[in-house]
Order: sequence, then C-alpha cells, then structure tokens
Amino acid sequence: MEIRELDSRTASDEDLLTIHRIEAACAHEQPFRSPELSLAYYRVWTDGDRRWWLAGELGAAVLMSMPPSFNQVQLMVLPAARRRGIGTALLASVVASAREQGLQSFFAHHSDEAGAAFARRVGAVDDQREVRSKLRLREVELREPLLPVGWRLQTWTGAAPEELIDSYARARAAIDDAPTPGDMSLEPIDAAWVRRMEQTAVARGRESRVTVAVDAEGVVGSFTDVRVSPPPSPVSTTDDTATLVEARGLGLAFAVKAESLRRLRDERPDVEVIRTMNAEQNVAMRAVNTKLGFVPVVIETTTVLSL
Ligand SMILES: CC(C)(COP(=O)(O)OP(=O)(O)OC[C@H]1O[C@@H](n2cnc3c(N)ncnc32)[C@H](O)[C@@H]1OP(=O)(O)O)[C@@H](O)C(=O)NCCC(=O)NCCS
Repeated sequence: MEIRELDSRTASDEDLLTIHRIEAACAHEQPFRSPELSLAYYRVWTDGDRRWWLAGELGAAVLMSMPPSFNQVQLMVLPAARRRGIGTALLASVVASAREQGLQSFFAHHSDEAGAAFARRVGAVDDQREVRSKLRLREVELREPLLPVGWRLQTWTGAAPEELIDSYARARAAIDDAPTPGDMSLEPIDAAWVRRMEQTAVARGRESRVTVAVDAEGVVGSFTDVRVSPPPSPVSTTDDTATLVEARGLGLAFAVKAESLRRLRDERPDVEVIRTMNAEQNVAMRAVNTKLGFVPVVIETTTVLSL
C-alpha cells in the first residue's frame, strides 16, 4: 500500500474529503461534523506543525506537534480495510517523520478492542482516559446561574474586549492544570495566543461564544468558550472551560457554562447537541458537566508511544 504525504494547507479538496470520509467512518460520535467544517479544520490551525498521510482511500494519519512536547497522532483505517497492515504502514510514516523532527514521544487515542490491540502491539503505553459527553440543549433544564457576591457574568462573540484580554488570557492559561497524557506540555498561553486562536476560529468559519465571570476589580475568574458554525448547525462543541486556581470552589465554572448554554439555546434555535471531552480524572469539570446535563458517550484511552 502506497503511503502519500500531504500538506493539508495546500492539498486538494478531493484529498481532504477522502480524509473526512475515513474520519467519519471511524468516529464514535454521530452525526460526524460536516465536510465543510472538516476542510476548515484540516486547512487552518493556530500553532505548531501538522502532517497528514493517506493510504489510498482506505486509511489516514496525522501528526500534530506543538512545542515544547505536545504531540498528538490520529491513525484511522476504514473498518472494511483493517488487518491488512495499513495501520502499520501509516504508523511507520508517522514515526519516521516524528524522529526526523526530533520528537521524543506522541500520544493517540483508542476506544475499542482493535485500537487497544494495535497500540499494545506497537509498544505504546496507555495513559489517562478521556470521556466524551454530550448535552441535548432542547431537553435539559438549565437553571439560572447564581454568582457569589461581587461577581458578574459577561458574554461576547468573536474577539475578547481589549480591556479584558490580559485577564482573560490568564484565565485561559488556567487550563494548563488540566491533566495531559505523558505529562506533555504546551507553550504558556498569553494574550497574543488568544488573538491567534480567535483568528483561527474566524478563518474556520466558526463563531466563538465566550462567557466569563468577572470580579469587582475586573479580574476574569472563569471562562467558557463554545464554538458553532453558521446555521443550520445542529452540533456545537465546547472549546475550553477553566477557573483561576484562587477562584475555584465558588461555582464559577457552573455559572459560566449555564449562562453560555442558556444564551446558545435562546439565540441559536438550530443547535441541538453540545459535545465536550474531559480527562476522566478531572472530577471537578465532570461534576459541573453532569450537573448541567451532559451524559457520557464514549471513553477514549490515550496511549503514548516513546520514540
Ligand atoms: C487501530 C487501527 C488504525 C489499526 O489499523 P489496521 O490497518 O487494521 O492495523 P494492522 O493491520 O496494521 O494491524 C497491526 C497489528 O495490530 C494488532 N491488531 C490490529 N487490529 C486488531 C484487532 N481487531 N484485534 C486484535 N489485534 C489487532 C494485530 O497485532 C495486528 O497484526 P496482525 O494482523 O498481524 O495480527 C484501526 O483498527 C482503526 O482505525 N481503529 C480506529 C481508530 C483507532 O483506534 N486509532 C488509534 C490506534 S492507537
């Protein structure tokens, strides 16, 4: 099987739609995202490097590397084409490229027996598990959020207001406490990163809807960011949610998420489902999500391959 490397920024729609079809066939969450959104994801990203490989129309792999050490791989083979060595061949291309780039390790996810067996066979070591959950926006009862005295909620769509950008970037950086597979790390988040990320969302045709909790001094203590495509867009995804360490335990994460979802429900009648993903051991975030009405759909195990 010939393996062909692609630069997804310049690849043809046809090649990218082949990747989309393979991803959709391997996905546990259905309906899968639209082909248009897949193309936007493949072509536009914020930081780091991405390389794709295609095995004809049967399998695809991507190596997404972000300095200093957050390296993720996706490896997918159509169910009807498995156990013919295609996954092995794709992985060989990924490993060769990762070594050439000087990477020490990368992680991938598996969520069924085939993926687990493949990972074991190639010597990857299982790490944390991630829970993918969904909320049916039209069916859950979303209580009006209550805030501690002195706090207020603020919501915007698109770019953060200039007067909040630094404080908002610090709240976004609180996501760094979220557990990562193999203790891999990312560059620290700052205001410039937030601006790049906002531009990425625009270039992908995504609306970024941010709700923050702000204290009396104007400090952003907690935020949530949901992403949605232009209507009709039945599925929306949570980007990130985090609370500053010193503001935890006050109910802020619940408040920002409840507010964000209530507004989305009222302003976007086309949105039916919200998806999110959390590390299984992230008890606090999962408790907030459960209280809001999210229900688990699938558990994915991260597995780390050291090079
Ligand atoms: C994992 C995946 C990419 C494997 O693709 P593939 O082309 O079928 O893999 P290969 O044919 O190269 O398999 C290589 C070895 O992995 C192991 N393996 C793969 N699938 C297996 C299965 N269903 N049961 C048991 N062992 C399996 C075997 O040791 C196999 O060698 P063998 O066929 O000689 O016994 C494919 O099942 C898939 O797309 N799964 C969904 C996505 C996923 O989980 N990707 C992440 C993997 S970490």
